[in-house]
Amino acid sequence: MSRLHTSAPPLASTPQMGFNTWNTFKANHNESTTHEIASTLISSGLKDAGYTYLILDEGWSDYTRTASGFLQSNQTTYPSGIKPLADRLHRLGLKLGLYGDSGILTCGFRPGSWGYEERDANSLAEWGVDYWKYDNCGGFQAMTHAPQERFNTMARALMDSGREIFYSVCEWGFQFPWHWGGGIGHSYRMSGDITASFINETGCPCKTAYCLNTGYAGCSVTSIIRKMREISVYQEKGHWLDMDMLEVGVGDMTVYMQQTHFAFWAALKSPLIIGADIRSLSEETLEILKNKEIIALNQDPLGLPVHYVEGVSEEGSIQVWAGKLEKGSVVLVFNEKSYPQDVSVSLKDLGLGIRGKVRARELWSGKSWGSNASVERTLQAYQTLVFRLS
Ligand code: GAL
Repeated sequence: MSRLHTSAPPLASTPQMGFNTWNTFKANHNESTTHEIASTLISSGLKDAGYTYLILDEGWSDYTRTASGFLQSNQTTYPSGIKPLADRLHRLGLKLGLYGDSGILTCGFRPGSWGYEERDANSLAEWGVDYWKYDNCGGFQAMTHAPQERFNTMARALMDSGREIFYSVCEWGFQFPWHWGGGIGHSYRMSGDITASFINETGCPCKTAYCLNTGYAGCSVTSIIRKMREISVYQEKGHWLDMDMLEVGVGDMTVYMQQTHFAFWAALKSPLIIGADIRSLSEETLEILKNKEIIALNQDPLGLPVHYVEGVSEEGSIQVWAGKLEKGSVVLVFNEKSYPQDVSVSLKDLGLGIRGKVRARELWSGKSWGSNASVERTLQAYQTLVFRLS
């Protein structure tokens, strides 16, 4: 399939960062929660840390189109409509995202855009929308028309709408979108929905990227990381593989689990879209989400992900991932066990071209050291240490 974009569009030159309503609110959000989220993005420092998209997932739209067939906001929960909301967010330095579907209905049975692509893309442009998350439910059409066709029709409509709109393809990894999603979207999902669980699945039976029964929802953090072992090679600047919204600060993950979750999403160059209720985050969680050095891995201009280093990892026990940055490189060491373990990793064995001495800094502790070309540490249960090398 030919690429629609020949070079990385400036919109997606680094993975997108923001907030999405789904993990916390499901479809139950409204104008006042959205205004609260917008002001919290600013007062918490999250906006300054880079989280600028405020994305309204399922729930913003009405159950019916207008009498003349246009998409409209939910008349009860968003009575003022979308344009005033977009204007207000823009005045605050934020950007507005909305959710839609490539079938006749969204997953929540609101109108999808199948057959209405051009009209709906024009509505988004007129309202001043900056981001469009496009889902894969929709019934009949979802089964009879290939996702490439459905998602591409909307890509073209957005491009013709006269406004630059970030296009986030949400196809759950069903038809292996790492082989085609990059030619269509600025980002594309590679798995069923994430759940607020580090290790236990509530659905998501597939443990590998090419397994056919991907499940639709309920994937744990570690299961999504596992799939990236096979497909991180497809990660590409401007067309990001999307590991789904962050569950950092949702559920009851320990601080080490939350750090691991965030470090992998950042270093694998996934979009960083917060799913937690930012109005009530603990200080510890906020610090994780705002960690400048971890975010810098994600936003590194080179745009290359880390890869799993099989030779120095130990199945079910220690995972080592490594990759290049514009300046230097990064190594993640993850203790997959529920108890502490001592690890020793020789930095020369990671394919990073390291020969002699290196300078290293562990990003969560902020501790730097020089000369030693190996890492020896005790890792706590489910902890990931992140070493930036130069
Ligand atoms: C799913 C999608 C989720 C969320 C949900 C809303 O298909 O993967 O991220 O958007 O629909 O119904």
